[in-house]
Amino acid sequence: MSLEEIFATRAGRLKASEIRELLKLLDQPDILSFAGGIPDPALFPAEAFATAFAEALTPAHQAQALQYSVSEGYLPLRRWLADHMGTLGVPCGADNILITSGSQQALDYLGKLFLSPGDTALVGWPTYLGALAAFNAYEPAYDRLDINTNRAPEDYRTAAEAAGGRVKMAYLSADFANPTGETVDEVGRERLLALAETLDCAVIEDAAYQALRYDGTPVPPILALEIARKGSIEACRTLYCGSFSKTLSPGLRVGWVVAPQAVIRQLVLMKQAADLHSSTINQIAIHRVAETLFDSHVASLRTTYRSRRDAMLAALARHMPEGVDWTRPEGGMFVWLTLPQGMDGAALLARSLDTVRVAFVPGRAFFADGSGANTLRLSFSCASEEMIEEGMARLGQLLRAG
Ligand SMILES: Cc1ncc(COP(=O)(O)O)c(C=O)c1O
Repeated sequence: MSLEEIFATRAGRLKASEIRELLKLLDQPDILSFAGGIPDPALFPAEAFATAFAEALTPAHQAQALQYSVSEGYLPLRRWLADHMGTLGVPCGADNILITSGSQQALDYLGKLFLSPGDTALVGWPTYLGALAAFNAYEPAYDRLDINTNRAPEDYRTAAEAAGGRVKMAYLSADFANPTGETVDEVGRERLLALAETLDCAVIEDAAYQALRYDGTPVPPILALEIARKGSIEACRTLYCGSFSKTLSPGLRVGWVVAPQAVIRQLVLMKQAADLHSSTINQIAIHRVAETLFDSHVASLRTTYRSRRDAMLAALARHMPEGVDWTRPEGGMFVWLTLPQGMDGAALLARSLDTVRVAFVPGRAFFADGSGANTLRLSFSCASEEMIEEGMARLGQLLRAG
């Protein structure tokens, strides 16, 4: 008997991504890669972190910095975050905040908290691959969250019952989503809240990219809109997942959840069972750096990423053949391409790596129903403007060749 035969059923839902093999090639120096969705390491506030870690390790502070700490998270950081959320229109206190090891951990915990096998999670077609990976372990069904159509709540409900449970959550990244770069406007956010109210389900607002807006008018967080409706965060069903990964550092793994206290208390129990708490010294360092330079640092990130976004949109307009369409994101790190029907993003990637040496992520993996073969995701966050021009020219040439 092999151990694989006695893995729990949930293990069968965790599958390695089919594109990972192809993406291994990305380390080769002549590949122009637009595949990663990561911050440019040249933009990390490394000096500020060096100072913060050195300070945390001085004799006066090291006993705390190297010690176990509370599961809720480092209180000065939670207080900073409560103020920060206030500036976004989300009045809340430190008791409404749990620090997590990246927002990915928050997605895992929220899946664990809400999804019994057969329950339905509403997600976009496409949606963040990592959210599907996190929820999959809890064996849900997925249904398409499409807030711009008039699909009746009853229809969602019937589909969820047929799948063996009920709708428990609607998950979305409302600002500059991964993978599409698109933003849900205020009307769409209000419609989502109305839908969630009727279905009596949670709304998971993934705000990983929210700070990275390059133009247009900021839209209030879904949680802010719900607090405005209900008067207090304690009455809300929106659970906000924030992250320092795209602004300060992904390697330190510091994210946060903002939620009613009753939900936070339950998530704290989960954290105690899973990893006790997030790294103490990393939380101390993030707090120090955030209070010193968060706003100015984000402003400079915006300037750099805005130029790269502009360069990519201009290069796409110059080089893409007729029949290829793409999004025009107001922030974030991604542009989403739709190829003519019948074309396959994965096959295109294989050809691209063989010939023009340009990498991107084929879109199908972002669709819970396995559709979307004719889509792909491009990231501009780590590419210079010259590289973007060259990469899009090569990709255009490949697409023209058919
Ligand atoms: C939409 C979205 N949510 C969450 C995450 C997880 O980020 P982290 O765990 O580093 O906060 C990512 C990372 O790429 C993301 O794109």
